[in-house]
Amino acid sequence: GAPVEADVSKLEPGALLRVKWRGKPVWVVHRTPEMIAALASNDPKLVDPKSELATQQPSYCQNATRSIKPEYLVAIGICTHLGCSPTYRPEFAPDDLGADWKGGFFCPCHGSRFDLAARVFKNVPAPTNLVIPKHAYLNDTTILVG
Ligand code: FES
Repeated sequence: GAPVEADVSKLEPGALLRVKWRGKPVWVVHRTPEMIAALASNDPKLVDPKSELATQQPSYCQNATRSIKPEYLVAIGICTHLGCSPTYRPEFAPDDLGADWKGGFFCPCHGSRFDLAARVFKNVPAPTNLVIPKHAYLNDTTILVG
C-alpha cells in the first residue's frame, strides 16, 4: 500500500486524528505536556515499558515516548489481542478503569488497556504493545505514514 500523509496542523493538544493506511486505522495523538510527563509513572505497570519487542515499533521509536517527537504518538489502532479497535480514553480522572488511570486506550472487546504511548498494561489479554508504523516528518506538521 502507498504511504499516506497525516496533516496535524489543526490537531488540538489532547485530540486524536485517524487516517487509514493499508486498510488499517492509524491514530495520531497530539499529546499535551501533562500527558507526556505522566508516561513514566506507568512503567512499573506495563508488560514492555522500554519497548524491547522489536516487532512493535521501528528502532527510532524505541524510546520513552515511542515516537519521533514526544508530542505526537503515531500508532496502529488495532488491539494486539484479537484485532478489535481500542477506544481513546484521554482523561486523567479516576473512572471505571481505575483510580490511577493516566489516559490511554481501552479495548472494549476483552478489556485490554494501553497507555498514551500505546504500551500494554499487565494482566490484560493483549500480549504486546500496539504497533507503531514506519513514519517520517515531511515538515513540522505533516507526517508520512508507511
Ligand atoms: Fe482487544 Fe481482545 S481484542 S482485548
